[in-house]
Amino acid sequence: MKKLTLKNLTTLPYSAEEAMNRLLVNFGLCGREFKKVIVTSSVPNEGKSFVSTHLWRLLAESGNKVILVDADIRKSVIRNRYQLSAEDPNPLGLAHYLAGQTELEDVLYATNVKNGFIVPTFRTVANPAILLQSDRFSLMLDRLAQVSDYVLIDTPPLTNVSDGGLIASYCDGALLVVRSGSTPKGLVANSIKQLTLANCRLLGTVLNRVEQKQNSYYSKYYRYGYGYGYTDENGKKKHRAHHSNSGKSPSSPEGGMGTK
Ligand SMILES: Nc1ncnc2c1ncn2[C@@H]1O[C@H](COP(=O)(O)OP(=O)(O)OP(=O)(O)O)[C@@H](O)[C@H]1O
Ligand SMILES: [Mg+2]
Repeated sequence: MKKLTLKNLTTLPYSAEEAMNRLLVNFGLCGREFKKVIVTSSVPNEGKSFVSTHLWRLLAESGNKVILVDADIRKSVIRNRYQLSAEDPNPLGLAHYLAGQTELEDVLYATNVKNGFIVPTFRTVANPAILLQSDRFSLMLDRLAQVSDYVLIDTPPLTNVSDGGLIASYCDGALLVVRSGSTPKGLVANSIKQLTLANCRLLGTVLNRVEQKQNSYYSKYYRYGYGYGYTDENGKKKHRAHHSNSGKSPSSPEGGMGTK
């Protein structure tokens, strides 16, 4: 198997790493029958790629064999953000496989994250809907699920293009990322409706990029702080908590897992 190195994937600052760890635990509680999991959101920039990549890393670090599929074929960011480097100067990825130019074995890579495998996107395609509708895509997900514990699929947002809904229809479950203080409730509700129509079970929502209020208990002791909150599957906030952090960091994601 060919190998890819992610040069820029580091452990997160304390509070964000802790929140991701809680998401990891909650995700594990959903059960191993949910193997093919789409990570999606309503609109761009809510944190799908961030959450899917770090959840992939943590699942792998905790001993699961896990495959990250970069299915945002229109404008993949994973390649550049994490500085994917392959031995081959012209590496093959998902679009090559879907177009029938190569086989799955050539686009499934081992990585420098132990137990972590990737099907990357190295060539973007302006309108991949036809490729995603092909049997090759659903067969690929089934085959990947057979050889791993989990397959996480990073996708474009549900509202803008049809790719996400289509991919959801091939998956066992969905994680819906919601950007705190930004995504309108109506759009979240609409995304949940789309996942239902795609017959894809909502495993939980991840409220992402929540800034902690500075007057919290912990902020008396630490200069920077970030908080997280839960939402249920109807987009309603259920709980809010705070974490402390002694350095500048990304805001914390947190998963509120539930079933429909
Ligand atoms: N919890 C977080 N804390 C800090 N920054 C974050 C967090 N989540 C995401 N970001 C940043 O926000 C930006 C958008 O995140 P990301 O690319 O993951 O969103 P996306 O939903 O995948 O976007 P798109 O819809 O364009 O694919 C990136 O710069 C990312 O590093
Ligand atoms: Mg993305």
